[in-house]
Amino acid sequence: MSAAHPPVRLGVNIDHVATVRNARGGAHPDPLAAALLAVRSGADGITLHLREDRRHIRDDDVARIRAAVSAPINLEMAATDEMVEIALRHAPHACCIVPERRAEVTTEGGLDAAGQMRSLAPKVARLRAAGIRVSLFIDPDPQQIEAAVQLRAPVVELHTGAYAEGREGELERLQAGAALAVSHGIEVHAGHGLTYANVGPVAAIPGIAELNIGHFLIGQAILEGLPDVIGRMKALIDGAR
Ligand code: PXP
Repeated sequence: MSAAHPPVRLGVNIDHVATVRNARGGAHPDPLAAALLAVRSGADGITLHLREDRRHIRDDDVARIRAAVSAPINLEMAATDEMVEIALRHAPHACCIVPERRAEVTTEGGLDAAGQMRSLAPKVARLRAAGIRVSLFIDPDPQQIEAAVQLRAPVVELHTGAYAEGREGELERLQAGAALAVSHGIEVHAGHGLTYANVGPVAAIPGIAELNIGHFLIGQAILEGLPDVIGRMKALIDGAR
């Protein structure tokens, strides 16, 4: 690491702690507890996606996490009037505008910022006027980066899904996209599908300032955490005899 390559911030996405909680409809595991643990473990920020169908994070999670977590909060959301009002109410550090289709399993592609310029412009402007850092989750496509420039978005998050799937040329597209955005003074984040195995080349791209990672971290935490948890439960059961 050198002054020319400052450290990359890690935003930990805790959505899938809520997915597990919601599987039973109760309160455990609590995404707020996960957010606090993540920050204590070195996360530079907490990312959460309030989807329109509330399939994982719910409105009260946003309120509780915003109130109790001192690290920057990055609220991912669709560009709807409802979500803009929620964002303005909670005033997170950042809002990442993502495309959302109800039938999708996850955010499957980047936002078409170029195609939706007219509807996005007033929403980006309102969020910015409230002091929220607006990020657009886009594919590393020059046309989309130019649209982010036009929209005066201070941040873009480049979708790494195609790279994570191993598609040829995607690392180069991310490198070129990051360089183009930086040349326009835009801060560059990246995320989607990043794992221990594929994070290195993305983290090495000079313009990248932040990575947002969720699914792999939560899944891996289950695997790496199981031995301790099982040991503790066995001890409790044995101690009761
Ligand atoms: N960044 C954005 C904008 C996302 O929508 C997602 C997925 O919710 C992520 C990062 C994290 O992706 P993953 O869960 O695959 O690490």
